Amino acid sequence: MLASKKYPQQQFTNQFKTEIDTEDEIFIRPDPVDKEIWLDPKKYIMSKTCPKGIIEYGNEYFVEISGYKESELIGRPHNMIRHPDMPKIIFKLMWDRLESRKNIYALVKNLSKSGRYYWVLTDFDAKVDKSTNETVGYFAYRRSAPKNAVKQIEKVYAKLIEIEKERGMDGSEKYLLGFLEERGQTYDQFIDEITKNSSFVKFWFKAMKKFFSSQKHERRDQTSLS
Ligand SMILES: Cc1cc2nc3c(=O)[nH]c(=O)nc-3n(C[C@H](O)[C@H](O)[C@H](O)COP(=O)(O)O)c2cc1C
Repeated sequence: MLASKKYPQQQFTNQFKTEIDTEDEIFIRPDPVDKEIWLDPKKYIMSKTCPKGIIEYGNEYFVEISGYKESELIGRPHNMIRHPDMPKIIFKLMWDRLESRKNIYALVKNLSKSGRYYWVLTDFDAKVDKSTNETVGYFAYRRSAPKNAVKQIEKVYAKLIEIEKERGMDGSEKYLLGFLEERGQTYDQFIDEITKNSSFVKFWFKAMKKFFSSQKHERRDQTSLS
């Protein structure tokens, strides 16, 4: 059963925790503010983590939109920008896929330092060292999420959160599977359909991956492919 599996840094509590324990400090997440941050559709937000999900790098736009200083982001668990409207089951799906070294697209609502939110379509991917066959880290490539997709996914996420509060992730997993079965779609087909994740958009993500795999993640000036 999906929800019984343990992941490196994952606790998967049913409550939204506002405090994250790191080795030497407690990070307090800001209170959410119901105001959206506008994202430039030409720009991308990229971050890289170690295999435990600790942020190792973020591009300039990631730093700008998050509202944190780069020094406040690096070394912290990526869940520091988790929004309470995000169901746990979505991250569980994501970690499952990354563990099997395959990419996954997800619509993610993130929390900035100001408490405001932004929606992104994210392509999460694993980086494997071919010489040792070890997973050396994870990448997230993001662009602004299409408005129509957000409208649709918000309803699904709200239901998943409601179920998680009552029955935990076993409950939300069952609901999600039933929801997809009713539509006769896999999770990937559903996301592709609502985000209109066309070959053009996939080409865009592919170009981004190619660009970043040729970088040492030291450039802070690159935020756009155009
Ligand atoms: C490369 C990478 C990027 C991630 N980006 C985000 C992100 O933008 N927002 C987010 O909430 N979680 C992100 N996560 C997932 C977090 O690590 C975490 O699993 C999630 O926030 C749920 O955390 P929690 O169960 O501890 O609350 C990312 C993970 C990886 C590996």
